[in-house]
Amino acid sequence: MDVIVDLQYGDCGKGKVAHYLTDKRTYTHVLRYNGGCNAGHTIFHKGTKFVTHHIPAGVFFGVTSIIGSGCVLDPDQFFRELRMLEKGGVRTRGKIFIAENTHVITEAHKEEDKRKGGRIGTTGRGNGPAYRDKYGRTGVRAKEVRRLRPYLIDMYAKWYSGKPVTILAEGAQGFGLDIDWGDYPFVTSSHCTTAGALLNGLPASAVRNVWGVAKIYETYVGSKKFQPAGDVFTKIGDIGEEFGATTGRRRQCNWMNMQTLERAIRINGVTHLVFNKMDVLREVREWALIDRSKVKKFSNEKDLKEFVVRRLKPLGLAKNRIYFSEHKDRI
Ligand code: IMP
Ligand code: MG
Repeated sequence: MDVIVDLQYGDCGKGKVAHYLTDKRTYTHVLRYNGGCNAGHTIFHKGTKFVTHHIPAGVFFGVTSIIGSGCVLDPDQFFRELRMLEKGGVRTRGKIFIAENTHVITEAHKEEDKRKGGRIGTTGRGNGPAYRDKYGRTGVRAKEVRRLRPYLIDMYAKWYSGKPVTILAEGAQGFGLDIDWGDYPFVTSSHCTTAGALLNGLPASAVRNVWGVAKIYETYVGSKKFQPAGDVFTKIGDIGEEFGATTGRRRQCNWMNMQTLERAIRINGVTHLVFNKMDVLREVREWALIDRSKVKKFSNEKDLKEFVVRRLKPLGLAKNRIYFSEHKDRI
């Protein structure tokens, strides 16, 4: 299993990396391992923009896609997405499955989240209440929902059928939103780390590469104050089109924080790292990051890149495993 994890607050471009890795067609399965339809994955496929919430990127290449037991699923949203993909020319038949022990987001969950989620600034998609009921042992599992029946699988049977499986595990949200490691209570209700992937019936020894995804600046959407004063952050948000794929809310922006990144790299066991949106800072013509609580400015892109590479070396990340990306549709 290769794992894709977001090292910041979501929206770093996991969808793009998943799309890139799946394009090589070396995986038998793509697994969404946490989160619900709070996630918004923007994927550019053959020149068309798709936004998915539940369904993993593997489906764009006909790879079997599984919504794992670490997720919570809104059946209405699931069927809407299937229709959207089919309409966009993506074949989904026989390619998308839901683990039978995945928990379901109900109407009551969504209604409660919309009513009470404001303090945290949730997406209002019922995520928190669904996980609460799962752990409170009052939840509903996918296998109890009749119309989901054609899509259900037993993950144990899939993983241990005797046939070789090669899995791309695609996380949702990000390290800064993780229930344990994020900035609680301004977090989501699931496990967004590599460990979260293992909760879907897989042993630790299954993990091969861990692709960490970050942006060269940070964004966060939710109720806490995140963006410092300064026109540059508004400019980054405008040029970077930093609006939520799920709710359309404006994302707050800040420079990349090296301490957060370092924690995320270690805790996730990152082996490959992609920094997205280099093109945005290039257009803004300012380069900076935060290290040891101080803003560090650079006069050009090259100096910033060199600093980052040097800074990450002691974490075991060699230069040839760090990618600086400046394209929407490729690494
Ligand atoms: P919830 O996951 O809807 O409960 O929202 C909790 C926090 O996580 C809020 O700050 C949301 O904006 C944030 N969040 C949830 N999903 C995503 C995502 O996919 N990308 C970015 N932020 C997210
Ligand atoms: Mg997103």
